[in-house]
Amino acid sequence: MFYLIYTRSFLDTDGDGVGDLEGIRRRLDYLAWLGVDALWLCPFYPSPMADFGYDVSDYTGVDPTYGTLAAFDRLLADAHQRGIRVLIDWVPNHTSDQHPWFVEARSSRDNPKRDWYVWRDQPNNWKAAFGGDTWTFDDATGQWYLHLFLPGQPDLDWRNPQVSEAMLDTLRFWLDRGVDGFRIDVVQGLTKDPDLPDDPPGLVLPHCAVNDCTDTHDVLRGIRRVADSYEGERALVGEVYLLSTRRVARYLAQGDQLHLAFDFTLLYAPWDAAAWRHRLRRAAEELDPIGAWPTWNLSNLDNPRHRTRYGTEARARAAAVLLLTVRGTPFVYYGEELGLEDATVPADRVLDPGGRDACRAPFPWDGGPGHGWPVDDPWLPWPPDTGTRNAAALTADGSSILHLYRRLIEARRASPALRDGGQRILESPDGVLAFERGEGDDRRRVVANFTSDPARMEGDDGGSWVVEVAADGAAEGRPFDGCLGPDAAILLRPA
Ligand code: NOJ
Repeated sequence: MFYLIYTRSFLDTDGDGVGDLEGIRRRLDYLAWLGVDALWLCPFYPSPMADFGYDVSDYTGVDPTYGTLAAFDRLLADAHQRGIRVLIDWVPNHTSDQHPWFVEARSSRDNPKRDWYVWRDQPNNWKAAFGGDTWTFDDATGQWYLHLFLPGQPDLDWRNPQVSEAMLDTLRFWLDRGVDGFRIDVVQGLTKDPDLPDDPPGLVLPHCAVNDCTDTHDVLRGIRRVADSYEGERALVGEVYLLSTRRVARYLAQGDQLHLAFDFTLLYAPWDAAAWRHRLRRAAEELDPIGAWPTWNLSNLDNPRHRTRYGTEARARAAAVLLLTVRGTPFVYYGEELGLEDATVPADRVLDPGGRDACRAPFPWDGGPGHGWPVDDPWLPWPPDTGTRNAAALTADGSSILHLYRRLIEARRASPALRDGGQRILESPDGVLAFERGEGDDRRRVVANFTSDPARMEGDDGGSWVVEVAADGAAEGRPFDGCLGPDAAILLRPA
């Protein structure tokens, strides 16, 4: 199980109201207790923070807000000591406009770094991720530069071999330090059609969500060769934001590109059994034949938390049962194990140009005024109900959602069927999703009722299955009688 830490919001230790690397290090015991196998740390590189770290001005440093390289080394060593691997975010599609490469590139048309970025005399019609155009005119040199995201995030030109060599060197820098891999940002953006053709008129998506140029596969193969040249397992997990399992599968194909790529279709699925079933089927159809493995998350740094989207803690719990038992690698977003809802962010505290502050609120460690942070009012407002919904209170309450996550993670670790097994979707009544996982002799079943009415699995009243983990904690250890309450989900083991 991977655990995604929004570095700014996990724990502050130096009193600036922003989380830091030392804060993560101090909470490694909590993460080990929860059962985390690996961390994905959001960017902590030097950055002007136009996109809160996804605008990198130095790929081989640590922004003073988050600490130092020495603090990173300490965090990595202490994580490894606990058996926790560490993946860091790598942002290869674009740099910050403050990166020395871009400062040079925009200094004159004949600067040697000019063609490290994408310059044109005429813009095309591509739309940027947070609104507006993907082109900004540079007055001094009289050309437009491309940015799929903010103007402060100019796109690198990966067709230039110097760019690719310099960027691969940044990977080597961190691999040499011992990181276990990378979460790679905006993979689908890395190369563009060299003609930069207009998008179809009326396209509602920003260009980054449709850019899918085949040359990127070769770029990825080069990245993979670097990772594979290191000892031990070094993982490449891609954000391939194409919203199509078939398209994403191509970035996993032949085992020489990404190891894992997020399937965002589940993150965008409504609380509906048919929608979930369809997405699980699609993953099996596209990935099984190429020997690839699905990657799921319910919440992340760019979207409303699933507790907020689904509306109730009961549904958030049931979704957790599914996330941690379906075939694939689950990513848990920091704080979802507390059942955190999005924060309410008043207009005068909005910071993110993409409107994503609400899901990035600080993690409440205890019920005190600063919730374990050295300041009472960190960079973003606290999420709701932190007086009671905090790590200390939920750790002390065995019936909490936090303990549910812990039991599910423990059950997953102990069961070859859940970890590695095949998956068969079972016949079930409308509104119910049921599947069986199997590996060798080990078998598990999962049944989830997505409706607000009680449901019944026919033929499951013979006591051949025992409830191993239940979303509401009830009936664990008892034979399954086929009955499910509203928004209930259970993990079953053979009796
Ligand atoms: C995806 C990241 O998750 C998001 O936060 C960021 O804004 C974009 N990539 C651009 O780097």
